[in-house]
Amino acid sequence: MNVDKIRKDFAILNGKNPPIYFDNACTTFRPNSVLGKMNEYYEQYPSCAGRSNHRFGTRVTEELIKARRTVADFFNAKKESEIVFTRNTTEGINLIANALGLKKGEIVLTSDKEHNSNLIPWLVKAKSVGIRHETFKFGDLGDFEKKIKNVRLVSVVHTSNVDGTTQDVKEMAKIAHENNAVILVDAAQSAPHKPIDVRKLDIDFLVCSGHKMLGPSGMGILYGKQELLEKMDYFMAGGETVTNSTYTSFVPEKVPEKFEAGLQNYAGIIGFAEALRYLKKVGLGDVEKHEHELNKRLSDGLLKLGVKILGPEDAKLRGGVAGFNVGKMNPHEVSLMLDSYNIAIRSGMHCVHSWFNANKLAGSARASLYLYNTKDEVDFFLEKMKDIAKLAR
Ligand code: ALA
Repeated sequence: MNVDKIRKDFAILNGKNPPIYFDNACTTFRPNSVLGKMNEYYEQYPSCAGRSNHRFGTRVTEELIKARRTVADFFNAKKESEIVFTRNTTEGINLIANALGLKKGEIVLTSDKEHNSNLIPWLVKAKSVGIRHETFKFGDLGDFEKKIKNVRLVSVVHTSNVDGTTQDVKEMAKIAHENNAVILVDAAQSAPHKPIDVRKLDIDFLVCSGHKMLGPSGMGILYGKQELLEKMDYFMAGGETVTNSTYTSFVPEKVPEKFEAGLQNYAGIIGFAEALRYLKKVGLGDVEKHEHELNKRLSDGLLKLGVKILGPEDAKLRGGVAGFNVGKMNPHEVSLMLDSYNIAIRSGMHCVHSWFNANKLAGSARASLYLYNTKDEVDFFLEKMKDIAKLAR
């Protein structure tokens, strides 16, 4: 993988004083090709898909069909109709929470280290419908097996945004299916960093966001097995979700359009597909390897400074993520000091308040890497962290 060549594709990395950007688990930069593809929509065919019969409408409809195919291929879905365009991971999870037809007393099982996007929808459903929300220990298949009986839906994060560790969702899917449960995988932090094959994993639903994988914000996808999507009720209803209506009745659209109410984020969808093409060209296997190498350098450097890392010390088990605390120093102070050196990381509870509260931690600092980061950036970061660590003693 040629990182120097990759960096040339990102305008923000080619200005004066380019930032050292280690907040990729929150959102990534976008290459020029993605921005260009989005501009192409606004400049050349800024119209509606699936409705208007003129040349602009036809072009955007074609681009949309192409984009859906690109996404389906990227995740190895059986059919393009198994891909629903959403705003983000959160919307995908809310779609399932509302359209699956969960009933009072039914159990939704999540891990104990879920982002609020995969916790709050279930707490809300517990209040409104009376479902039961239960948890197992993240990554613990034994505990998962103990809790799976009578579960209707397993909804689990693949890779944790707190510490970068990954769960064996393939095995979970097998166990879930043996117990007549369906499984939803939150791939927000895994899809950008490793190849995912929904058929090999045999998962029922997968959700992720464009902004964490070189794509635009406000754009995500839900993958669902065709037969399951077809059984699901509406989440949002409106324009393009029906084929006909009277004052008192309507005929539902087929999937996936049934779940794509109203005018869509066309530039976002087209830009997202371009981001996937970019990632495919680079090769996700190489991206993963590059992140591991950088994270090993970064994590070993932090450990030498006496900084405590969240999760296993072995960087191989944490992808491109290093969550850490510097003594008793407030993590926000750490990130502000780093910002003064033009280094961007994230600090706080990372929308996983439940896990931090349960573990009696006030938060953490987090460096998260991606394909355009370099060894030199890691070394500069460690040099500054050396000064910061001294202040903590
Ligand atoms: N979930 C994103 C993060 O971890 C926003 O930063």
